[in-house]
Amino acid sequence: MYKALILNGPNLNLLGTRQPEVYGGTTLEMVENLCVSHGSSIGMEVSCLQSNHEGALIDAIHAAKGVQDGIVLNAGAYTHTSIALMDAIASVELPIVEVHLSNIHAREAFRNVSYISKVAVGQICGFGAQGYVLALDALSAHLKSETPA
Ligand code: DQA
Repeated sequence: MYKALILNGPNLNLLGTRQPEVYGGTTLEMVENLCVSHGSSIGMEVSCLQSNHEGALIDAIHAAKGVQDGIVLNAGAYTHTSIALMDAIASVELPIVEVHLSNIHAREAFRNVSYISKVAVGQICGFGAQGYVLALDALSAHLKSETPA
């Protein structure tokens, strides 16, 4: 059974009440429950972590090495700024699927740039909370394609 970490960054603890017209009405707890139950339906053991702190997110990525098979990451605004997060991902050599609730390419220009994308397997954005489910499916397919039968 593959293991995946759902890692959420700054302000995502406020999901459900934070700009619901942009990010929807689903709370972080609902997103995490959805990920755990979807994970078990596709044979993945899912654990979840959220932090508002860049260093804590980096620590979580480092700690995932040798423990997790991959990460679904919504780095929030750090997506657009954090070379340190990008370097952490590159350092652990774990497959990362980048996810965003909103379509960051249809928003302000500063949100169109993602440092995470440079080291991610791929990016899913614009599908709200469902994007996490899609990201888990994508991570699962990627892991299976990498593992010889
Ligand atoms: C976000 C998009 C980011 O630009 C923003 O800073 C967030 C949430 C999203 O899920 O759509 O915090 O990552």
